[in-house]
Amino acid sequence: MTAPSNPLTQEELKADLTLEQLQQLVGLVEYDASKDPFPVTAMDSVGFVVGNATQTANFYQLALGMDLEAYRGPETGCRDSKSYVLRSGSARFVFTGGVTPDSPVLDHHRKHGDGVVDLALEVPDVDRCIDHARAVGATILEEPHDVTDEHGTVRVAAIAAYGETRHTLVDRSRYDGPYLPGYVARTTTVTRGEGHPRRLFQAIDHCVGNVELGRMDEWVEFYNKVMGFTNMAEFIGDDIATDYSALMSKVVASGNHRVKFPLNEPAVAKRKSQIDEYLEFYDGAGCQHIALATNDILRSVDILRDNGIEFLDTPDSYYDDPELRERIGKVRVPIEELKKRRILVDRDEDGYLLQIFTKPMGDRPTVFYEFIERHGSLGFGKGNFKALFEAIEREQEARGNL
Ligand SMILES: [Fe+2]
Repeated sequence: MTAPSNPLTQEELKADLTLEQLQQLVGLVEYDASKDPFPVTAMDSVGFVVGNATQTANFYQLALGMDLEAYRGPETGCRDSKSYVLRSGSARFVFTGGVTPDSPVLDHHRKHGDGVVDLALEVPDVDRCIDHARAVGATILEEPHDVTDEHGTVRVAAIAAYGETRHTLVDRSRYDGPYLPGYVARTTTVTRGEGHPRRLFQAIDHCVGNVELGRMDEWVEFYNKVMGFTNMAEFIGDDIATDYSALMSKVVASGNHRVKFPLNEPAVAKRKSQIDEYLEFYDGAGCQHIALATNDILRSVDILRDNGIEFLDTPDSYYDDPELRERIGKVRVPIEELKKRRILVDRDEDGYLLQIFTKPMGDRPTVFYEFIERHGSLGFGKGNFKALFEAIEREQEARGNL
């Protein structure tokens, strides 16, 4: 079962995850890294800009069960912004907010609201990746350089992705500090009740980007050419159209599938699609949702709901549909348990998956989360897209944006 091309990352080891668990959680596959022009080990972190990083960090500890791990701010010599690093399993989020009125972080927030600015990737060789990216025409935002403190040295660089999103490339093999040089260790002050699980999700499964009409293939090609990512499942047009909303979606993935980036673009429909709404309110292309892998979605959803997280509703008709019951067959719990929690289920030739989507996390109808529990399926819930979109449209209509 152990694949030599898939050694566990430091973060995964720290999170006590085994390779078997990860294969189940995020659907890893084996691949030959020696032929990869841009080897990617895993997601390093997801970087967010938010309006109030202090409160957001608190919220993610209280509501999403994440642990505070590191901090940078005026007290540590970073005058104009504060950043909090949080972890759940091998998933790491970094929330940054502006402190001084002239902080560029605030300019970004004024334009985009709360959102993802950095899908950082852990790579074994930053320079090799940048050499390749440059040769095929990628925009290099930061040249490779070392950052050092008493915990060692990290080599970093950054390339531009869709909208104002970036991919920072990080080689932390010579570093054992809490996050990056400049950050100090911080631990959570939140006390969790007895019986509360250690974490509500274990890893990042995929990060979805919304891009402008007609630009999806351009970005698919970017990931193919620059990062050597391969195309996975592909959904087009009718597959994910309701009467009013339509989108096109393609999925690219790193060699071992640890990193999966679906890309959406709006498709022409009778009325404004959810992707159009996102592009309008985010003011351009950006990250739409992050899927978080859990090994017990029922328990996670129960706790998240108790913590105040709101999920998209799914109509009763979804669960009572005899066609759906026929299509999904037997899953690990009775369908009534899924119905009670509004968890969606989809099956393909490899197995099945359970998934649920939150409402947008901030004030703007932009970034949201998915929780996903995989049982063999390497898909993204294609069979659920129509049911899901109908639910999203009800929300859009309530906001007056349909
Ligand atoms: Fe997803």
